[in-house]
Amino acid sequence: MNKEEVVFKIERLKKEKNAVILAHNYQIGEVQDVADYIGDSLGLSQKAAQVKEELIIFCGVHFMAETASILAPEKTVLMPEIKAGCPMANMITASELREWKKDHPGSKVVCYVNTTAEVKAECDICCTSSNAVNVVNSLDGDTILFAPDKNLGAYVARHTKKNIIPWDGYCYVHNNILARDIKEKKNLYPGGEVWVHPECRPEVIDLADRVFSTGKMVKEARKTKKRDIIIGTETGIIYRMKKENPNKNFYPARDMAFCSNMKKINLIKVLKSLENMIYEVRVPQKISQKARGAIERMVEI
Ligand code: 13P
Ligand code: SF4
Repeated sequence: MNKEEVVFKIERLKKEKNAVILAHNYQIGEVQDVADYIGDSLGLSQKAAQVKEELIIFCGVHFMAETASILAPEKTVLMPEIKAGCPMANMITASELREWKKDHPGSKVVCYVNTTAEVKAECDICCTSSNAVNVVNSLDGDTILFAPDKNLGAYVARHTKKNIIPWDGYCYVHNNILARDIKEKKNLYPGGEVWVHPECRPEVIDLADRVFSTGKMVKEARKTKKRDIIIGTETGIIYRMKKENPNKNFYPARDMAFCSNMKKINLIKVLKSLENMIYEVRVPQKISQKARGAIERMVEI
């Protein structure tokens, strides 16, 4: 089957089954091209709850599909590749979080959306990379346990008076972007503006002109008057940025900033997912209700 035939079959099955395809900004180009919506992690889960279709094909990593299932429990959420997990989300378990809370009685717990549903169910409130500072500042109490990303935790700590105690987790993709990568790219593209994700190391953030979530990067790419932008996040996002802004240049801060889990989904797997109704992601109701509370408290802010 050639690519056109695969796309044709996907489109036909989507109509037959009343399905919608959601893809994260880091997905490979051919998957982004068949998606009905492309976006950041929380935005896609919220989209899952808003769309009229009952079947969601979620092209991203596992915690994102879980969040979609939590926010749209009446819908069927399928992941074309069930092994696409987020190593950072798996760096803290619900039982580890329970133990950590016992060690810090009276503290508030903020969980990044990059966590499992079980972990979300144990926290006071969730946050995303774009609202983490506001979420932390909205809380009563001075001591905040922040999980799992120590780099995002350090970023928040710079912008709040609260005492942030970070979990020792990190995203291997962003943590591997080094200050010397940024310096090299600035030498190669003098005048280029540097945009980085807050999952990057503090010393990388120090060298950046702007710090954005993936959703904000896509929006700013449309607005900016700059022609050359050095992008400090997973390189998959550059496909969309170039497609939407053909007159601007986007350069990866690190050429190898590559999330292997995000690349596990391809067109054939999307087709198989629709054909065979695989792989369903459903969060048990007891966990889902508690996790939903933490997400809704964030959305209210
Ligand atoms: P966003 O929420 O900014 O899309 O980030 C998700 C992610 O996995 C970053 O590595
Ligand atoms: Fe997880 Fe990092 Fe991949 Fe995002 S880029 S899904 S945080 S491993």
